[in-house]
Amino acid sequence: MAQKVTLLIGDRRVELPIVTGTEGERAIDITRLREQTGLITYDPSMGNTGTCKSGITFIDGERGILRYRGIPIEQFTDRPNFVEVAWLLIFGRLPSRDELTQFSGLLTENELLHEGLGHQFQHIPVNAPPMAILSATLSNLSCYHQEFLSLEDSESFAEAAARLISKVRTIAALSYRRSRGLPVIYPDPAMRYCANFLHMMFSLPYKQYVVTPEIENALNLIFILHADHEQNCSTSTVRMVGSARANLFASCAAGVCALWGPLHGGANVEVLQMLQRIHQGGLSPEECIRQAKDKDNPFRLYGFGHRVYKNFDPRAAILKEACDRVLSTLDRPDPLLDIARKLEELAMADPYFVDRKLYPNVDFYSGMLLRSMGIPTNMFTVCFAIGRLPGWIAQWKEQHDDPTSKILRPRQVYVGPALTEYRADGSEVNGQ
Ligand code: CMC
Repeated sequence: MAQKVTLLIGDRRVELPIVTGTEGERAIDITRLREQTGLITYDPSMGNTGTCKSGITFIDGERGILRYRGIPIEQFTDRPNFVEVAWLLIFGRLPSRDELTQFSGLLTENELLHEGLGHQFQHIPVNAPPMAILSATLSNLSCYHQEFLSLEDSESFAEAAARLISKVRTIAALSYRRSRGLPVIYPDPAMRYCANFLHMMFSLPYKQYVVTPEIENALNLIFILHADHEQNCSTSTVRMVGSARANLFASCAAGVCALWGPLHGGANVEVLQMLQRIHQGGLSPEECIRQAKDKDNPFRLYGFGHRVYKNFDPRAAILKEACDRVLSTLDRPDPLLDIARKLEELAMADPYFVDRKLYPNVDFYSGMLLRSMGIPTNMFTVCFAIGRLPGWIAQWKEQHDDPTSKILRPRQVYVGPALTEYRADGSEVNGQ
C-alpha cells in the first residue's frame, strides 16, 4: 500500500503521499500542498528538498557511496576512460564498442573551434579568469551552432553533446595559452581525449609534449570523479536554466558560473592557495585550523565538509590514493602533499571537525594531482568543469525529455515592508 504522511493544521488533517526511490530513500510529495492548505515549505538552502526524480547518479552521504547509473565509482578506477563514463551518464547505459568508437569519432570531428570563436580570444584581457572565458565561450557556441538551439531528435542531441564535450577542452586549453602569451596548439585527431587536452595545453610548435600513461590515467580519473554529483549547486543551475527551455549551451554556461564559486568547484583553487600560504611560512597548519574554527573569521578549511557526505567523500579517498601513487613517481616530492596530510591529520583529531562531520572532499586532493601534471592553479576549476560537463548534459536531457517537467519557480516568504503609500517628495529629477 502506498505510504502517506498526515499533516495536522489546527484540527484539519491533510494526507500527503510518500515517494520512494530505488534505494529506499523517501520523500514527502508536496506537489499539491499549497493548493490543499495555502502553505508552502521553507527550506532556504534546499537541504531537505528534492526538486526532481533522477535516474543518473545515486549518493548515500552517510555511507560514502557514489554510483553512476548504478555503478559504484570505485569500479571506474582500474582503466579509467572518461569518454565511456560520459556516454554512460548521458545515454543511460554503458556503450557498446561500436557506440564508443562512433562517439569518439564525433568528439574528434568537433574538436576545432569556429574561427570566429577563436578570434574572440584576441580581445580578451590576458589576465582574464579562465572560468569567465569558459562560460562566455560556451554561451557563444549558441551563436555559431544555431542548428542545435532546439534539440528535438536524438541524433542532433548526440551531436550537440559531442560538440560541447569536445570543444570545452579546446576552449580551456586556448584560454590557458592566451594567458601565457603562447601560440595556439590545435587538437591532434590521433590522440585520445585526455592526452589531446594535455597536448593542446603543453606542446610547443617545435616540441611535442609527451603524455605518460600515468598522467593520462590520472586525468581520466579526475574527470570521471567529477563527472556528476546529482543535484549540486551547478547542476541545479543547469536544470533551473534548462527548465525555461533554454538551450543546452546556455544552460551549461550558467553551470560554469555556479561552479566558479569558492564554496563549490572554486574550492580546489582555495585549497592550493591555502597549502601554498602554509608552505611559504605565512600560516602554520595549527593556525590554519584555529582560524577555520573561529566563528568571527570568515575563513574556512577549504576542501573540507560537504552538504551530503557526512562520513567520507568516496572521491576524496580515491584521489588521495592516486596522489600518493602519481606523486611518488615524480623526481622531486611535492612539499604541499605533506602539508595536506598534516592538515587532514589535525582536522581529523579535532572535535570541531569530527562533531560536524567535516571530512576531506573531492577538492582537497584534486589540486595536488592537477599540479603534478603542470596544470596551473587558475585552471583547476576549469578542469572540474570539463569533468562535470557530461553530468550537466545528462541532467539537462533527463529534464528535457520528461513530459511532466515544468519551469522551476520557487516561492518565498515575503518579509519586506507592509503595504506602504507612494508619496512624491516634490524634488526635481534631471535626465531620465
Ligand atoms: N571549515 C570550517 N568550518 C566548516 C567548514 C569548513 N570547511 N565546512 C562547514 N563548516 C562548519 C560551519 O561553519 C557550520 O558550523 P556551525 O554549525 O558551528 O555553524 C557547520 O560546519 C555546518 O556547515 P554549513 O556551512 O552549514 O554546511 P553546508 O552543508 O551548508 O556547506 C560546504 C557545505 C561544502 C559549502 C561547506 O562545508 C564548506 O564551505 N566547505 C569548504 C568549501 C569546500 O571545500 N567546498 C567544496 C565542496 S565539495 C565539491 C563541490 O561540491 O564543489
